[in-house]
Amino acid sequence: MVEALDCRIRPAVEADLPEMEWEGEYTQYRRVYRHVMEEMQLGRRLILVAECDGRVVGQIFIQFNAHRADIHHDSLSAYLHAFRVRPSYRNRGIGTRLIQAAESVLRDAGYERVVIAAAVENLGARKLYERLGYRVYKSDPGCWSFIDHQGRLRRVNEPSLLLEKWL
Ligand SMILES: CC(C)(COP(=O)(O)OP(=O)(O)OC[C@H]1O[C@@H](n2cnc3c(N)ncnc32)[C@H](O)[C@@H]1OP(=O)(O)O)[C@@H](O)C(=O)NCCC(=O)NCCS
Repeated sequence: MVEALDCRIRPAVEADLPEMEWEGEYTQYRRVYRHVMEEMQLGRRLILVAECDGRVVGQIFIQFNAHRADIHHDSLSAYLHAFRVRPSYRNRGIGTRLIQAAESVLRDAGYERVVIAAAVENLGARKLYERLGYRVYKSDPGCWSFIDHQGRLRRVNEPSLLLEKWL
């Protein structure tokens, strides 16, 4: 039997940043996370975290007013990314709650459309998004780069599908 979880979804605070690196798996994104946290102060982005049993076990980032050409639309659109839940907390509805909380923030802010990406081979994530009403509209080469915690340029090539949903 799966135990009931004492879990809440809330905006991230500075003190969450170390926990968002897990046990080192995501340390390479330290500068990215800090930058997003700064953008959060400017109202351009929002990080939502799932706090369960007193620890941060999941996250989703909202990029408001996404300007990327492949995401942009006549309807006011936002982009969800950096979506993850710690393995031992998966399949208990936390990912669903994170997406629904993000959609609720966007609906309240007058957004009409939301976009999320799934790596082509990530059939589990795609299935979850489709169950929540997202539909594939485009494939994307998934090429982007970032500066890691040691100041090195990292390039990512992760062919993906873009999925959209009207709120
Ligand atoms: C994708 C990810 C964030 C989903 O998180 P999650 O917390 O496991 O998501 P949920 O529990 O809401 O949904 C997962 C499945 O559990 C099922 N589920 C939902 N609530 C449940 C509950 N209370 N009890 C049991 N199962 C449940 C859902 O039906 C869902 O199945 P489906 O996808 O076949 O519809 C997580 O698997 C993850 O971190 N993966 C690695 C990173 C990743 O791939 N991120 C996405 C980037 S594209």
